[in-house]
Amino acid sequence: MTKQDWIASPGSPLRGELDIPGDKSVSHRAVMFAALADGVSKIDGFLEGEDTRATAAIFSKLGVRIETPSASQRIVHGVGIDGLQATSEPLDCGNAGTGMRLLAGLLAAQRFDSVLIGDASLSKRPMRRITGPLAKMGARIDTGEGGLPPLRIHGGQALHGIDYTLEVASAQVKSALLLAGLYAEGETIVREPHPTRDYTERMLAAFGVEIEFSPGFARLRGGQRLRAADIAVPADFSSAAFFLVAASIVPDSQLRLRAVGLNPRRTGLLTALRMMGADIREENRREHGGEVVADLVVNHAPLRGIEVPQALVPDMIDEFPVLFVAAACADGPTVVRGAAELRVKESDRLAAMANGLRALGLRVDETADGATVFPGPLHGGSIDSHGDHRIAMAFAVAAQRAVGEVRVDDIANVATSFPGFDTLATGAGFALRNG
Ligand code: S3P
Repeated sequence: MTKQDWIASPGSPLRGELDIPGDKSVSHRAVMFAALADGVSKIDGFLEGEDTRATAAIFSKLGVRIETPSASQRIVHGVGIDGLQATSEPLDCGNAGTGMRLLAGLLAAQRFDSVLIGDASLSKRPMRRITGPLAKMGARIDTGEGGLPPLRIHGGQALHGIDYTLEVASAQVKSALLLAGLYAEGETIVREPHPTRDYTERMLAAFGVEIEFSPGFARLRGGQRLRAADIAVPADFSSAAFFLVAASIVPDSQLRLRAVGLNPRRTGLLTALRMMGADIREENRREHGGEVVADLVVNHAPLRGIEVPQALVPDMIDEFPVLFVAAACADGPTVVRGAAELRVKESDRLAAMANGLRALGLRVDETADGATVFPGPLHGGSIDSHGDHRIAMAFAVAAQRAVGEVRVDDIANVATSFPGFDTLATGAGFALRNG
């Protein structure tokens, strides 16, 4: 892939009404569960990102017919819980940790062997967090050296349920175990020290699975079938987050973001930004496909630094790159603790953000599990996004307050989660072009 870069600088006040693309977590799960269901499911609002398309392509290889009647729609002809077919080809999850970890749980329970691979970033991400508990269920998965991908999954194992308490707050691990649990003898129980996003639980229920769940707890019985369901995917709060911060920090801005998913396990950033003094209103709150959505109206407001409550961390785990940008433009330092998981995301996001903000002239003190951001004027500079979509978009936002041009290197992976970000951003007032 040729490297693509952005040149970003302050544009005009941000204005307009924006439609943010569909939720990545929901889109992955919708295609997976529809594939396993009996009958035909329709997905509306599917994220046309590289990550979620990679998941859909994997199910096509596993024998599932998936039609694309129009962009952001999929018709999935479910093959039933035991209907997936073996393939000798490696299954490429691209950049997607969600794809690889959930598929590992699912494929560990099939009659056939499979191999999961990913791109350079995914190939550096820890997989023992799933292979460990899946092995306790009777699964056989070989990792590469150091517990990294590729995953070689030996099918044909008889799985049994477990009662497992997660060591890290991870919806991906929880989901992998629940998917394996669908095929296991007896009950699978997953307990979480800190509740994480519950899309797997909610969506399995929508597909007719009997599952008991509450924050921090999920229990299901093996041997159940899924019934086709139509899924309406809400706009992705994590993608909306870039515009929430951008409009907050650029004077005279006002943006309306339509029908954004507000699952409480995703909206920690909203709480944090409001603590910082952000002016964000929810209008037209309603249910959309079993999820609460609302239009978010954000006006520029002066922000102040905060100590981010550690209890919020899992609810804003994907939003720290852009939270750091809000912190950079606030009055007074912002302190983040208890966020060591950021080191094993698509990049080491604590290091990538700290180094990037330093390159723009700020002081950032990094710790093992967090950082303190000392705000100040941002100057131009060159940023290494480490091929991480959220780092790239965060610095496009930061540049809207910089004096001078910000060059953001290696931005191609923005397409994994937010295709069309640059068009939407420039339409709203960002100054952003390919470098
Ligand atoms: C996700 C869970 C989170 C999140 C990721 C999507 C999911 O990862 O960071 O972007 O869809 O379940 P972890 O489970 O590793 O925390």
